[in-house]
Amino acid sequence: MQFHGKTAIITGAAKGIGKEIALMLAEQGAYVVVVDIGDASEVIGALQERNLQGMALQVDITDYSAVEIAVREILDRRGSIDILVNNAGIVARGTILTMSIEQWKRVMEVNVNGTYYFCKAAIPSMISQKSGKIVNITSIAAKTGDLTAAPAYGASKGAVSTLTRSLARQVAQYGITVNAVAPHAIETDMSAEWSEEKRTGVVESLPVKRMGTPREVAAAVCYLASDDAAFVTGETLNVNGGYLMD
Ligand SMILES: NC(=O)c1ccc[n+]([C@@H]2O[C@H](COP(=O)([O-])OP(=O)(O)OC[C@H]3O[C@@H](n4cnc5c(N)ncnc54)[C@H](O)[C@@H]3O)[C@@H](O)[C@H]2O)c1
Repeated sequence: MQFHGKTAIITGAAKGIGKEIALMLAEQGAYVVVVDIGDASEVIGALQERNLQGMALQVDITDYSAVEIAVREILDRRGSIDILVNNAGIVARGTILTMSIEQWKRVMEVNVNGTYYFCKAAIPSMISQKSGKIVNITSIAAKTGDLTAAPAYGASKGAVSTLTRSLARQVAQYGITVNAVAPHAIETDMSAEWSEEKRTGVVESLPVKRMGTPREVAAAVCYLASDDAAFVTGETLNVNGGYLMD
C-alpha cells in the first residue's frame, strides 16, 4: 500500500488509460479524484465494488476557472494533493490538408492547456508541502511525429514532453518531481478507431507483436508517482512494445 494516505488527481479518468491509472493508484492505497469532462460513474462504481477510495469531479480541463475551483475543492476536502496525473487527451485524425483550424485549437487546448492548467493550479500547494509527484501522459508521437493521427496531436504531445522537463527543473528544489509516460499502441477507445489494416500494421511494427494494455501504462505511472522514483525527474518513460528505443 505504497500510496496509503495520499491524494491523487487523475484527469481523463472516466475510461481508458486514465481509468486504469485511477484503479491501480487506489489499489495501492491512494484516495483518487477522477476528473473527466464525461460521466465517471463506471469508474466510481468499480472503486466502490472493491472498497477503494475516491470521488469524481466533472471538469472540462480547458476551462481554467473550473480547474481552479476543482483544485480548491480537493484541497478543502483532502488537505493535500500528493499526485497529479495529467492523462486527459484527445486526437484528431487527418492531415494538414483535411484538419480544420478548430480541430487544431481543440487538440492544443485539451492536451497542452489542460495539462498546464492543472499543473498551475496544483503546484502551489505542492510547494507549500514540499512534496509532490506529477506524471504527464505524452505519446510516442512527441518523438516520432504522428504515426496514426493528425499533426496537431504530435505537436501537442511534443509540448507536453517539453513542459514536463521545464517544470521538472523549476520545481525540483521543492521536492516535486515531474515526469512523463509515452505510450504507443494501447488498447482503448482512442485506438479502437483504427481500421483493421492499420491495427495489423501497427502490431506488426512492434517487436512484442501485440497491443499494450491500459494497466501496463498505469504500472509505469505508479512507479513514477512512487517514492522509489524520487531521484527520477524530467524523464519520459516509453511504454511502446519496443517500437522506439531511445
Ligand atoms: N491509446 C493509445 O494508444 C495512446 C497512445 C499514446 C498516448 N495516449 C494518451 O493517453 C491518454 C489517455 O488516452 P486513452 O487512449 O485512454 O483515451 P480515451 O479517449 O479512452 O480517454 C480519454 C479521456 O479523456 C477525457 N477528456 C477528453 N477531453 C477532456 C477535457 N476537455 N476535460 C476532461 N476530460 C477530458 C475523455 O472524456 C476520456 O474519458 C491521452 O493523453 C492519450 O493522448 C494514448
